[in-house]
This record gives sequence, C-alpha cells and structure tokens, in this order.
Amino acid sequence: MNYNTEELQDKIKTIANLPTLPHIASRLMRIVNSPSASADTVASLVSQDISLSAKVLRLANSAFYGIPRSVNTLNNAVIILGFKIIQTMVLSLTVFDMFAEDENKPPSPFDRDAFWDHSLRCAVIARLLAHKRKRNYALDPEEAFCAGLLHDIGKVVMEQYLNTDFHKALYHARANNIPVFEAEKEILGYTHCDVASWLTGTWSLPEEIEQPLVCHHEPEEATICVDAVLICHIANIMSKINTENETETGDALRELEPKAKPLGLYSGDLSDVVAEIPEEMERASIFIKK
Ligand SMILES: [Fe+2]
Ligand SMILES: [Fe+2]
Repeated sequence: MNYNTEELQDKIKTIANLPTLPHIASRLMRIVNSPSASADTVASLVSQDISLSAKVLRLANSAFYGIPRSVNTLNNAVIILGFKIIQTMVLSLTVFDMFAEDENKPPSPFDRDAFWDHSLRCAVIARLLAHKRKRNYALDPEEAFCAGLLHDIGKVVMEQYLNTDFHKALYHARANNIPVFEAEKEILGYTHCDVASWLTGTWSLPEEIEQPLVCHHEPEEATICVDAVLICHIANIMSKINTENETETGDALRELEPKAKPLGLYSGDLSDVVAEIPEEMERASIFIKK
C-alpha cells in the first residue's frame, strides 16, 4: 500500500492539521503500559473530564461488561475492569466524540449513522471472534473491539477534510458496484486506510489497535499484529453478511473458513458468532449512544 507519489505528498500537506488525540486519551495511551501506572493515576487522569468520567461509569455499569455489582467510583472502575478496558473504552468514547455528526452539515452521500452501525457491528464480531480464541490466544478481546469500532475511521476523516475526493470515491463505488476501498484506489490513489495511518501516526495507539486500522482490507500487508489484523479483516467481512438469510450466511461463512483457519477458528465457531451478534449488538449500542 505505497502511494508515495508527489501528488499524494501534497495531498497529505493539505490535511496537515489532522485532529490530534485529546490530552486525556493521549496521556492514557502512554501511561497504561508504564510500570509506574496505578489505578489512582489512571482514575485521576480520567476524572479531569467530567463528561468522560460519567460515560466511563455508565459503561462500566452496563450489561456490556456484565459486572455483577455496581461500580460507583472511577477508582473502582479501574480496579474492577483493569487498565486495558479503561484504555480501550476511553479511546473509543474520545474518537466517537471527535467525529460526532455536525447537525449543520450540508447533505452528503456519506451516511454517518450507517457508518457507526457498521463499525459497531464489526467491533462486536471482532470481540466475539477474539473471545472464541481467548484460551490460547494473546489478543485482548477489548482491543479487538476497539480496533473494530475504529477500523474505518479514515472514512470519517475523509468526509471531514477531503470530502470532494471522498464523495467521488463513494459515487464511483456505487456506480460500479465495487467496495469503497477499491474505488478509492482506482480514482484517488490513496485509501481510508492510508488516511488512518496518517491520522494515528502521532496518537501512540497500541499496535494491536493501530495495525487493523491500516491493514484491515489487505491483511497480507501486516508484518506485526497479524492476528489482530486478520480478526478485524474477517469481522469487517462478516459484518456485511445478511444474517437473516441462512443460505447466504452459510455460503459466506464457508468462504471465510480458510481465512479464519490460521486463527484456529472453524465454520462452527463462525456460526456461533453469527448467532450471538443480535444480543451483543444490543449490549454494545451504549458505546455509540449520544
Ligand atoms: Fe475499511
Ligand atoms: Fe468496514
């Protein structure tokens, strides 16, 4: 995925002011893996933002995490859920807020509600797939969820900063019945994955989250976090299956099996995941509620 032409360099310069990750999320990305991080430091960092704190507590008490007793303080949330969950939760909530719908925006061919619905579905499926392999598999299901939720974030950035290009690609995809990723390649020479890579370059994201954002359409391009990328790639494909149609689902899952095999996942696991999607979507919807 190398489109380092001069034209593309110029294009990057035009969006040089890509949004930076807000302070709290950015600090959190850095301190979570530091040996000196404590529940106190993490909780006091998050507590600097009242609205973020309230959202974290709301999520911590939601059916999505299924904690049997109520979590009343941020400190408790950090202790009970752990650093990783708080980190992925804050990252998801922060990015969702950064790219919230602008009510006054002119009509656009990009449907942001459908976009977040697809993203959430991909996140839910990625988390379920990661859980299926949890026993002998290092990928954290919460990181898989976060990567799934943010995997197409490059598209929202294009909608906000490069919308003439992006709309051309959307119309081209529709007219030719091809995926947006292919249309971007054909007529722009760069894709939402390249944009995600520019965007997150300074964000210090965990590699297990960053790599799927960049390689989810071309998992063979990944040289690190290969399993995290593959899970997101499969989840993205599965999220587009019409699960109401049994024959279509069966065919799609059979086709996916060779891709899933390196992860130790077979068609039975994939069907189990499909069966769990509706309930999990219900629980996870709290992530994208305004
Ligand atoms: Fe994508
Ligand atoms: Fe996608």
